[in-house]
Amino acid sequence: MIGMPEESFISEQDFPDYIAKLNGLRTRVAEALPLEPRMRVLDVATGSAYFAMELAKRDPTLKILGIDSSDRSIRIADRNIRGRWLDTVVSLIKMDATRLEFPASTFGLATNFLGFDDVHMTKEARGVREVFHEVARVLKPRGYFCFAVMPPEEAETTAQRLECEVSSFIRGSTWLPALRYQEFLRGAGFTLLKREVHYTHQKMNPDQAKRRVTAICDDTLKMYGVDANTFEETWRRFGPEIEEHGLGYCSRVVLMMARRNA
Ligand SMILES: C[S@@+](CC[C@H](N)C(=O)[O-])C[C@H]1O[C@@H](n2cnc3c(N)ncnc32)[C@H](O)[C@@H]1O
Repeated sequence: MIGMPEESFISEQDFPDYIAKLNGLRTRVAEALPLEPRMRVLDVATGSAYFAMELAKRDPTLKILGIDSSDRSIRIADRNIRGRWLDTVVSLIKMDATRLEFPASTFGLATNFLGFDDVHMTKEARGVREVFHEVARVLKPRGYFCFAVMPPEEAETTAQRLECEVSSFIRGSTWLPALRYQEFLRGAGFTLLKREVHYTHQKMNPDQAKRRVTAICDDTLKMYGVDANTFEETWRRFGPEIEEHGLGYCSRVVLMMARRNA
């Protein structure tokens, strides 16, 4: 198809820590954000803090606070930042993003890098909407909210489409259509300033996809107590298509940059 983005397979050498790097995707997204020196930044659903670390590298004068509702994520994030200069820029707190324990007008910028599918898994679509309202409350007037999502209806390759379908099937971590996020923005008092699409230009080969699907199936119950489909169930349903097309790995990301109305 004309205009379809080229995607090569991730090398075996890059695969073990691919999630940390995503072929430079987080760096490119961080570079697009409206940062100001010494800004207070809230990174919502910070996971392993990889995006928070990108922000810290871009501007070490920032004061970044990463929050996540999972003990395990906070432990891993803490290991990633501790003992390096990063821990003077990034702090971490266990907290549910639908109930932010901060006073109004605390932060100049709130970010979320590919966390809203997981918030959907723990709190459903209404939980995702609550996060937008909570973020609006804790942002200063005219503060920025920048987040990266993977709206399934915009997938441009079969591997990208499969990526959204597979994680939703395994554990209900579901991306919403882009218009839904835009509706949440409006409802919470934001104006969308800009939308950008970023690509990794890479995907998993079927062997790598098997390892990744196994890890997601195994981790879900351990981390969240959420029932997950098994590897066998998932592969029976999606295996033949993955064998043919590979499987996306954060391959196409939509960055929405919004500002809180005054
Ligand atoms: C895919 S990770 C985020 C990735 C990360 N931002 C990065 O830079 O790679 C999604 C995180 O969302 C967290 N999460 C899910 N529901 C949440 C909630 N209600 N409140 C806060 N964090 C939540 C999960 O624990 C998980 O660590």
